[in-house]
Amino acid sequence: MCLTIPGKIIDIKGDIASIKRYDGVKKVDISAVPGVKRGDWLLATIGLAIKKIDEKDAKEIIDLLESRHIIKEENLSQKFKDVLLASKSRDLTKEEIKYLLFLDNPEEIESLFSEADMMRKINLKDFICLHGIIEFSNYCQNNCLYCGIRKDNKNLARFRMTMDEVIETADEAVNKRGYKMLVLQSGMDLGYTDKTLLEIVKKIKEKCHVFIFLSIGERSDGIYKKLKKGGADGVLFRFESTNSELYKKYHLSGVGKGDIKNRFDLLKKMKEMGYYIATGPLIGLPGQTIDNLADDILFMKEFDVQMVSMGPFIPSKETPLGNEPAVDINLALKMIAVSRLIMPQSRIVIASSVEILDKNGRKKGLQCGGNSIMFNLTPIKYRANYKIYPGKKDLPEENWEKYALFSGNEDSYQMLEEELKGSFKNS
Ligand code: 5AD
Repeated sequence: MCLTIPGKIIDIKGDIASIKRYDGVKKVDISAVPGVKRGDWLLATIGLAIKKIDEKDAKEIIDLLESRHIIKEENLSQKFKDVLLASKSRDLTKEEIKYLLFLDNPEEIESLFSEADMMRKINLKDFICLHGIIEFSNYCQNNCLYCGIRKDNKNLARFRMTMDEVIETADEAVNKRGYKMLVLQSGMDLGYTDKTLLEIVKKIKEKCHVFIFLSIGERSDGIYKKLKKGGADGVLFRFESTNSELYKKYHLSGVGKGDIKNRFDLLKKMKEMGYYIATGPLIGLPGQTIDNLADDILFMKEFDVQMVSMGPFIPSKETPLGNEPAVDINLALKMIAVSRLIMPQSRIVIASSVEILDKNGRKKGLQCGGNSIMFNLTPIKYRANYKIYPGKKDLPEENWEKYALFSGNEDSYQMLEEELKGSFKNS
């Protein structure tokens, strides 16, 4: 499901209304929303009004999706202008990417965000993809140094949802609440056998018309193949860092023994299997450099990642990195903006950790090139224990859900299916 920008009715002729939006006047068919009149606010997809909303909600969405950066051109350096101009006609070089990530002039940063926001609008319009995430187990046999659910964290109450609970949660999300994209996430939990996972995917697919992303860690390619056949569509599988030294430092005792090659090999295989790929780095790991992050962006570009999923590191007291500083929100936002310039067509998820760094993080992320967000659907009784990092709050999804285009609109799902067909072709 997705969100789009509202328009105000300025004229009605029969079943066709003219609605005014920031990008001009559009004509839409209003037969699905009888009784609307001039002055009312509508949410509409291409050519079709979906629902009437009140003015307050309309203004809230507009405020969210429309940025109004006012930038004085004389405060921008020539080099900055040259790099932004270059980004419109060719791929940026690594040096140029680093230059943008290093920016510290607030007006140049704003200008970068504004440019990325425009690229998002041009390429993906005002559809914001909404995903629901079900965190079904916090057991993990890995020991990633940064992660709050690492095996050695003994201060965490562990939970494992039953198969029926997962299926029911998915069923409710899709068939009652209108979700079209779900992420099934867990720690690297071998307590969930391959067989159980396969059954869950199959049963959800039987009950629900939904796109399923798996986020279940570094399992064998054999099971990923079976799960794909069983109905899984995408994987959310972060590479965390392309730098092998850094990767080794943080994952040494994990399944892949700290060898980044294992992770990339699996990612490649998943792509060949036809999975829709969501991946990206952790931003701001201690010891990580801007040079490393530029490599991460270049990797995503070269790998032709369909969905960028990256997020800022948040230190967790229950881990060996508990006393490390959190990353500057602007670096996380610059990563989003530069990724948008380099990969204009990709979906870019705003990680919930962005919101931990800044209470308006989600909005800021959507205004600097991001176009996708995730809502937490994990049953409340388990939520607090899926503590990958502290402060992970229950974001006010219900408030957002009311804006989502539930009925009669399959755009978001169809767009994904189209993209997936493309990835089949390439493989
Ligand atoms: N801060 C931010 N993100 C984290 N993750 C794990 N630990 C942290 C943390 N402390 C991210 C990893 C993982 C994803 C599920 O959560 O990138 O892939």
